[in-house]
Amino acid sequence: MNGCVHEPEQPWTVGTAPGIFPSIGHGIALFRRPLEFLKSLPPQGDLVEIRLGPQRAWMVCHPELVHRMLRDSRTFDKGGPQYERLRALMGDGVVTCPHAEHRRQRRLLQPTFHPSNVSGHTALMAEEAAALCGDWRDGQEVDVSAAMLGMTTRLISRVLLSDSLSPAAADEVRHCLAAIVRGLFVRTIVPVDVLFRIPTPANRRYRRAVERVRELIDAAIAERRRGAPRDDLLGLLLAAADTEDGEPPVTDREVHDQLVSLLLTGSESSSMCLASTFSLLGRHPEVERRLHAEIDTVLAGRLPDVDDLPRLVYTRSVVTETLRHSPPGWLFTRVTTRETEFAGRRLPRGATVLYSPYLLHHDPASFPEPDRFLPERWLEGEAAPGPHGALIPFAAGSRKCIGDLFSMAEMTVALAAITGRWRLRHPSGRVAPPRPGATLGPRSLTMICAPRTDAPDGTAPHAVAQVPEAAAAASGAEKAGRDGDNGVHHA
Ligand code: HEM
Repeated sequence: MNGCVHEPEQPWTVGTAPGIFPSIGHGIALFRRPLEFLKSLPPQGDLVEIRLGPQRAWMVCHPELVHRMLRDSRTFDKGGPQYERLRALMGDGVVTCPHAEHRRQRRLLQPTFHPSNVSGHTALMAEEAAALCGDWRDGQEVDVSAAMLGMTTRLISRVLLSDSLSPAAADEVRHCLAAIVRGLFVRTIVPVDVLFRIPTPANRRYRRAVERVRELIDAAIAERRRGAPRDDLLGLLLAAADTEDGEPPVTDREVHDQLVSLLLTGSESSSMCLASTFSLLGRHPEVERRLHAEIDTVLAGRLPDVDDLPRLVYTRSVVTETLRHSPPGWLFTRVTTRETEFAGRRLPRGATVLYSPYLLHHDPASFPEPDRFLPERWLEGEAAPGPHGALIPFAAGSRKCIGDLFSMAEMTVALAAITGRWRLRHPSGRVAPPRPGATLGPRSLTMICAPRTDAPDGTAPHAVAQVPEAAAAASGAEKAGRDGDNGVHHA
């Protein structure tokens, strides 16, 4: 499954979004009701002009055009207000580096995210998920957003840095991340730097969070340099720093930038997606029942291991549908590196171009009843899934998410491990819709947990000890890796 969207017969349509305000452009609409604003754009055209503050920008609204843009990362490079701000945090690491630097960096980091390594991490994923809910009590109110972010931060920090980032430091990273994600969004939609130099409490919080993450990573690197080499991503980077194989050696600055980039991207999106999943399950008991039935049949009370992944078909469909319905990465910017013709329109060099997985995923032309949460869309023969090219939660092309397989495995394992033993219910009253920041998802979701009385026996947290060593070869993740290229591998 891939960007197999057919080119429309008619020429591309180009429009302008109504409601431009002087100086702030569409900033108010994007800030107050961003999702509604995005959904209003496809009827305006396949390519729609909007304003970010005073700046003119272009939103790409047709899946085929989005794929064209993502495939041509030389012309549509990382840049625009979002990536300019991210560079202050991640330097020129793999997430933010320009096209010319990207291939080398991606090749350097890729081994950690190779399917066989992902398979090797499933035991760790199950362990972290079981540890998370191990001390929940019947009737306890759980801050699901914080709990998921804590779990994903610990997991990715163990993968990248083994134990060089202490649990307390990982927790601090989690706190900083919340401030950064909030601040980043405002800086993207109103890219007026002078506003963010004013020493308001919010601006100070943002700057302090950025500095603190950098300090924590520097401390972890220094700790490792004093100790023994380890077989993790930091070990790989430090080895590349000492290499003499003709490639330019990796500098200290790059080691730092890569770790900050991967730690932040590797924790935030998966946690948002899991929090969205629990929120959606709490409102869709029929989906929850079917999920429980599959998990009980496949796992019979065990924690999931790598061999279970291909059999957790409905569980994976629930994750896929959450990624469609509430994609954590919902809005991204690019900048043109040369004058180019796009959708029949001349774009100057330096033009800001945006794409939004949320917009594509909620276009009824691609997904009927797009606001409905319907995991059955992804089960063969149960519902039409829509054109696959329109599903891009992990993007596409050379800048596609490096952690797609990792996070699909992580989220499937976590969902199975937690829902195998716990139900999470919304407190009575209205469930507030998620408010988008730099990512989309419930930023502060409180739910009430209850042990599953209908689950098979043997679900106590001590079952962690029974997780078998992950079998790398022929794993579900490897199979998934062969199945397609948008990173979402379903039934
Ligand atoms: C639900 C989970 C995740 C989602 C939805 C997601 C989504 C995305 C998207 C949409 C992009 C492309 C951004 C753009 O086009 O500007 C991206 C890039 C990236 N993601 Fe993820 N991501 C997830 C998890 C992860 C994890 C676990 C990691 C692991 C460290 C990760 C690391 C990265 C990196 C390094 C890039 C930049 C890739 C490059 O430019 O070569 N992500 N992600």
